[in-house]
Amino acid sequence: MSRRGSEGEDIIGRWSEGKLDLLAQYLQAYSTIMSNQKTSNNPTGKPWLRAYYYIDAFAGSVKPVAKDEQRYIDGSPLRALQTEPRFDGYWFIDVSPQRIERVERLREDFPDCIIETRLGDCNDVLRNDIIPKVLRSPKQRTFVFLDPYGLQVDWETVRELANTRTCDIFINFSVMGVTRLLPRDQNPEPEVVEQLSKVMGSTNWITQIYREPPATQLDLFGNPSEPSLSRDTIRSEWLASLYTNQLRELFRYVSRPVLMKNSTNSALYALCLASHNETAIRITNDIFNRYDQLRVLGS
Ligand SMILES: C[S@@+](CC[C@H](N)C(=O)[O-])C[C@H]1O[C@@H](n2cnc3c(N)ncnc32)[C@H](O)[C@@H]1O
Repeated sequence: MSRRGSEGEDIIGRWSEGKLDLLAQYLQAYSTIMSNQKTSNNPTGKPWLRAYYYIDAFAGSVKPVAKDEQRYIDGSPLRALQTEPRFDGYWFIDVSPQRIERVERLREDFPDCIIETRLGDCNDVLRNDIIPKVLRSPKQRTFVFLDPYGLQVDWETVRELANTRTCDIFINFSVMGVTRLLPRDQNPEPEVVEQLSKVMGSTNWITQIYREPPATQLDLFGNPSEPSLSRDTIRSEWLASLYTNQLRELFRYVSRPVLMKNSTNSALYALCLASHNETAIRITNDIFNRYDQLRVLGS
């Protein structure tokens, strides 16, 4: 769970600001390219795109507060609404009524933007409302930002977004959420395996990380002990590439993951882009490489 400020806003760390900066940089590039596809100013010389949209499936508190500082930060809805050229429409989803109210107030600041909001679980809203109604037209494109606290994005939702063939997804995958679910000294309970399967599609990898100790191990009294399972340390890099490899089964192209780390250098999330367009991935990897270089210089 995240910490909350006095008005219910999220209190966020440096890494979250990094994530929002990466989002803003990619949105800028995406929107510039897409707006050119609506004119003849593109390699085909013909306008083929009718409209492009932004969907924020976990809209958040709009203006989170920086940890240990009295400073408000522009959250993902503001980053999207400030992007130029503008998107043709914006969809914001959140399970919290207060947060949806905050997003709705943004209509006053951005009167020229078409803002739609939906209150509810984004898996239901995307699968039952937005995907069937909006995302199927081949002459439209959509950028979807999936930024949960934990393991709230269903693999089935990712699959349905991929199947539209018109969406790019920018997903902040909770590596910490997965690691926390897996006990060190015993197989995970069936409910846990089911939960992981719901989020990651496959769970075959779980058996690979648990192993029997050598049978000759003795207990304190010199008797052979009951063999118990132990799992390897789960490296965040490994888990992040496991997830991006899974995404490659649904999307033609997937960026490298960038690990989002807290102040003690623990990896919390892996951010990546999945798309059906190769250029999108090249741009994302360039943005991520620059971010990693700056991180090394700053550390
Ligand atoms: C990490 S915050 C989003 C931060 C926001 N994207 C930003 O960068 O400013 C996660 C948000 O997701 C909402 N949420 C949690 N579970 C959800 C679900 N299943 N569907 C939609 N929203 C959800 C929470 O209320 C919270 O506002």
